[in-house]
Amino acid sequence: MCGIFGYCNFLVEKSRGEILDTLVEGLQRLEYRGYDSTGVAIDGDELDSTTIIKQIGKVDALKEEIAKVNPNRDVTFASHVGIAHTRWATHGQPRQVNCHPQRSDANNEFVIVHNGIITNFRELKTLLTNKGYKFESETDTECIAKLFKHIYDTNTQNGNELDFHELTKLVLLELEGSYGLLCRSSHYPDEVIATRKGSPLLIGVKSEKKLKMDFVDVEFPDDTENRPETPLRGNTPTGRNGAISVTSNKKNPNAFISNSHSDNDNLLPIAANHFNLRHSQSRAFLSEDGSPAPMEFFLSSDASSVIKHTKKVLFLEDDDIAHIYDGELHIHRSRREVGASMTRSIQTLEMELAQIMKGRYKHFMQKEIYEQPESTFNTMRGRIDFENNRITLGGLKAWLPAIRRARRLIMIACGTSYHSCLATRAIFEELSDIPVSVELASDFLDRKSPVFRDDICIFVSQSGETADTMLALNYCLERGSLTVGIVNSVGSSLSRATHCGVHINAGPEIGVASTKAYTSQYIALVMVALSLSDDRVSKLQRRNDIIQGLKQIPQQIKKVLDLEPKIKKLCQNKLKNQKSLLILGRGYQFASALEGALKIKEISYMHSEGVLAGELKHGVLALVDENLPIIAFGTRDSLFPKVVSSIEQITARKGHPIIICNDNDEVWSKKAEGTKLETLNVPQTVDCLQGLLNIVPLQLISYRLAVDKGIDVDFPRNLAKSVTVE
Ligand code: F6R
Repeated sequence: MCGIFGYCNFLVEKSRGEILDTLVEGLQRLEYRGYDSTGVAIDGDELDSTTIIKQIGKVDALKEEIAKVNPNRDVTFASHVGIAHTRWATHGQPRQVNCHPQRSDANNEFVIVHNGIITNFRELKTLLTNKGYKFESETDTECIAKLFKHIYDTNTQNGNELDFHELTKLVLLELEGSYGLLCRSSHYPDEVIATRKGSPLLIGVKSEKKLKMDFVDVEFPDDTENRPETPLRGNTPTGRNGAISVTSNKKNPNAFISNSHSDNDNLLPIAANHFNLRHSQSRAFLSEDGSPAPMEFFLSSDASSVIKHTKKVLFLEDDDIAHIYDGELHIHRSRREVGASMTRSIQTLEMELAQIMKGRYKHFMQKEIYEQPESTFNTMRGRIDFENNRITLGGLKAWLPAIRRARRLIMIACGTSYHSCLATRAIFEELSDIPVSVELASDFLDRKSPVFRDDICIFVSQSGETADTMLALNYCLERGSLTVGIVNSVGSSLSRATHCGVHINAGPEIGVASTKAYTSQYIALVMVALSLSDDRVSKLQRRNDIIQGLKQIPQQIKKVLDLEPKIKKLCQNKLKNQKSLLILGRGYQFASALEGALKIKEISYMHSEGVLAGELKHGVLALVDENLPIIAFGTRDSLFPKVVSSIEQITARKGHPIIICNDNDEVWSKKAEGTKLETLNVPQTVDCLQGLLNIVPLQLISYRLAVDKGIDVDFPRNLAKSVTVE
């Protein structure tokens, strides 16, 4: 749950100052992934030495620390490798010694930045401590750095000269858990290793020269050759010839392919050009005239930090070991498996830097709330034909018959994504006539819930990297069920591992609190439900109403955003100094209540609870008095009379709730007359879509409360955007 970033230049002259600035800026874009502490490792002044600079706090604190250390910014490097990290602590408090990069020894022989958790680190630590290694941090990562050194030293003493990637293979054999990691070493100057298992990692490729990327066929090496000693476990397979180079598919160099979730509507933010992996020692990025090409590589947990430099990226797969040296990128596999994909693609990102910048907004969260008229439109763009009430989801079309035959749909997600499943469950059941269960990924796994081949499992995730959701996905894949991904991040692990799905196309979401992803997930799920029922005459009218309702949503969200001044006042006068807040909803609005409460908790640190209105009388009513602030969803649907009666139970106990209701609803305007009851009016839409509008005032309230309390909205304490640990 951290951000890692690396920068390598080859035959491109860069000063140390420029290298540091590139690393620091890369970290700034990754800060949303964790912001307890940060650090960088770059070349020192002595030959093949490494300087590490790290600091507790956000990237600004690191900048100050760099200024204090004051390294000579003017020294230039024709080739150089720098690595950097922003941390969300899993092992060890955010103390300086626990910041990454972590190192093997006082001479910084091996230096590591790591995202993930090494689950067997205690055993490794004990083993290494018994061999005389002294640990200086409480992190799991330090044992990786020491393992590198230990295996390197032992092999060198035995006369085995290992390539950096061969050494890495041996290290990875000892690791259990998840990792995205970068390693640089004074023994392998100007080389870097990037490898992943369960944590995202990609490589941006940049060159001013036109590159020639022919591939060379080489026999797959016998893995039993050249087995060096692994000090901890004994012999293991390796061999220099095991390299897989990234080379272009010459036959069709401009072949644009769509990714597994693509629609036929060209909405995907990436296009991809296929490159083949070949077992080869060929030079992967020679220029057309055959000379070594000047190259820059950007290694990162996330494309948002790379986009400024290049749009050409390669997403690493689990068990890939990328080895960069002499301007070449080689990919090796850490283990051999039958039927493994031999193809990696260099994809062209179509995301613009402007999309991930704050622009005129103070915070990313604010920007993302206000982007919803556009982001919800983008989710539907090219997919809904409003004239003919038709929906086409390109990434799902071929799978619809199989999905319709399912005996059960299981929706699996975490946090806000889970709420979008809850919000759409009823419409799924109504339109598809298939029973739907909604699961929190962690609980689903804890229960080892039975999954069958005729179940369809739908995974919803903004990042597409959430560890709990990914584990649940693997669990379902192992049991043979068809899996569907509803994902925002294109190229993410989840979108690649599911059989089919829909990208929600909300654009990058940077604010830790999910806002526009929620409304886009909601719409994507409604579109899936509509697609499942497009062969049912009996549902025709209902479908048409929903489709026409969807058409209005972007404009209606715009109207709801106009509530901002009223919400500002309400927060100042009624909510700001409160300790706790109840949010009440029923039917479709129960999900809005849970999601609203989550937003308020995570951003404003105020305790808030989403309550099913029907459950009020079963216990929660005891909390109600004239002081407890309550927000209730009182918009019109078939449950309206029941909601009114719940709210009367509150007013009868001197409570004066804030009601989110439809414009011009006389029931509420009458009740508000001469009382302290307040209303926030939103436009009316079809019942199953009302939650798309109702959630917006809650997003605004949470944002306003946080700002009024002086909370750093985009970086709420103890949280991170992408939760890649269990
Ligand atoms: C809350 C929030 C989290 C995420 C959850 C799942 O605002 O953002 O609850 O929804 O961590 O993340 P994704 O959707 O990336 O799987």
